Amino acid sequence: MIGVFDSGLGGLSVLAAIARALPRADLVYLADTAHVPYGDKDDAFIRSRVLRIGRHLVDQGCGVIVVACNTATAAAVAAFRESFPMLPVVGVEPGVKPAAAASRSGRIAVLATASTARSQRLAQLIRQHAGSVRVDVEPCPGWATRVESLRLEDPDFVEEARQHLAPLLAAGVDQIVLGCTHYAFLCPTLEPIVAQRASLVDVADAVARQCVRLAGASARGRGQLRLLATAQPERLDAALPALGLTWLRNRLSDPTRLVVA
Ligand code: DGL
Repeated sequence: MIGVFDSGLGGLSVLAAIARALPRADLVYLADTAHVPYGDKDDAFIRSRVLRIGRHLVDQGCGVIVVACNTATAAAVAAFRESFPMLPVVGVEPGVKPAAAASRSGRIAVLATASTARSQRLAQLIRQHAGSVRVDVEPCPGWATRVESLRLEDPDFVEEARQHLAPLLAAGVDQIVLGCTHYAFLCPTLEPIVAQRASLVDVADAVARQCVRLAGASARGRGQLRLLATAQPERLDAALPALGLTWLRNRLSDPTRLVVA
């Protein structure tokens, strides 16, 4: 069984890629909705949440854990791996490397939560993989919360996104990295804004491939899915159609449950 978690709905974009790549794997998705968003919390708090949620998923029998959250990976994946040294753990980091490799203009941008944007881990990722390009790191406060509210294509957000992206596009940025798993669900708004000028870079499929490599026996099951949440579990199941993920319901084995973690 594979455990996947995020602060809320964002990690469902990663879960969907894993579900497509591993049709027989049993999957558990845990949304820490009692504490969403993580992006405006401090590192110590995020670490304590990641350790609690991870422990809960391990106790449920998960043999692989996917931290389907850039913010949690940046703040806590090292501590998590230290606490569970034998456990395969897959983190999610902004696709700086593929974006730098694909850029023709030599300018890329990373859209991320405030926490990821200021993280040492992102700075290191940029130093390692994007030495030859200029990288603009753009915090996007409120964007993850917008996804949680499912108001994805409101005119006020279209305008806000346009204003946020316009200076980047004007400066010649041609790769825009979605450095938060929630932002994948904003693509219908972001795509027409960037149009032919830039590509949006998402790593969900790459994360799923890494999961396939590490999963081993954890990928052999009945192809079932359980959804868990630390608050308002009914919102998770209800969000699937709005996020274009109705098909995941075919794998649901139980109603979405509340967990205390
Ligand atoms: N989806 C998460 C990420 O990838 C966290 C968003 C949030 O809770 O602020 O960063």
